[in-house]
Amino acid sequence: MTSPFTARRPLRERAYPDPSNLETRRAVYRFRRPPLDLVGEVAARLATAPPGTLLDVGSGSGVHTRALRDRHPDRTVIGLDLSHGMAGHTGPPAVVADAEALPVADGVVAGCLAVHMLYHVPRPRLAVAELARVLTDDGLVVIVAQDGGDRAEVEGLWRDCVHATGGEWRRESPLDLSGMAVLAADHFESVTRHDFPGETVVPDWRPVVAYQESTRALSGLSDAGFDAAMAEFTARVRSEVARTGVFRFTNRVGILTARRPLRS
Ligand SMILES: C[S@@+](CC[C@H](N)C(=O)[O-])C[C@H]1O[C@@H](n2cnc3c(N)ncnc32)[C@H](O)[C@@H]1O
Repeated sequence: MTSPFTARRPLRERAYPDPSNLETRRAVYRFRRPPLDLVGEVAARLATAPPGTLLDVGSGSGVHTRALRDRHPDRTVIGLDLSHGMAGHTGPPAVVADAEALPVADGVVAGCLAVHMLYHVPRPRLAVAELARVLTDDGLVVIVAQDGGDRAEVEGLWRDCVHATGGEWRRESPLDLSGMAVLAADHFESVTRHDFPGETVVPDWRPVVAYQESTRALSGLSDAGFDAAMAEFTARVRSEVARTGVFRFTNRVGILTARRPLRS
């Protein structure tokens, strides 16, 4: 059975028809400790790419694309996304395309980003091979994702709530940063990793509940099943915040920097 986490049509039409779900999830990280300027960290790495075009694969609402355009007015920064509704928010130039088949010639892109997106690709190995194919020999790829254990407390609570309401729980995605590092090592001579461990301590139940609600299309549950689990989840998060003053969860996010694509 295809996972709702990688099925293209639900991704385009339900999970990412517009930036709202993504922005709801991003909003909770204002409570992260220590604070993390991920956009700045990504941009700083791409500042070391050789002169030339940058390609933001799975650009979403264009947060990284626009930051790179602001910081590097001399470069062309192209947004690329599976969802028309997302690509439209990136501003020009933006392309609607699939990471598994980039509409780009071999060896012409100085820097590629794949931020929080490879776990949505049905064949991530193919997507990583595409990043290597389009890159110049001296180019740079930046991959960002969570590693195992990220949001373990939220995931565990959600799993309990799904089970308590008679639903079938599914892990969001089996592909984490460590898995991506293995894929990258098959396609690049050099892969370096930087981890940013932290925790998010939210003094209000609402952003936590809004975050979970934004994952409806990725849950694999019917609307009725999701609503039942959501009611249970909301009650438990509210109770935790009433009891302790906060809801806290672990963050395990990291950046891979890959250089020297291996040509077959
Ligand atoms: C979690 S969002 C991340 C967006 C952006 N990179 C960021 O960090 O803000 C994932 C994005 O990947 C896009 N996406 C999913 N599968 C894709 C694919 N096969 N090819 C290109 N984009 C894809 C989605 O439409 C969505 O906009």
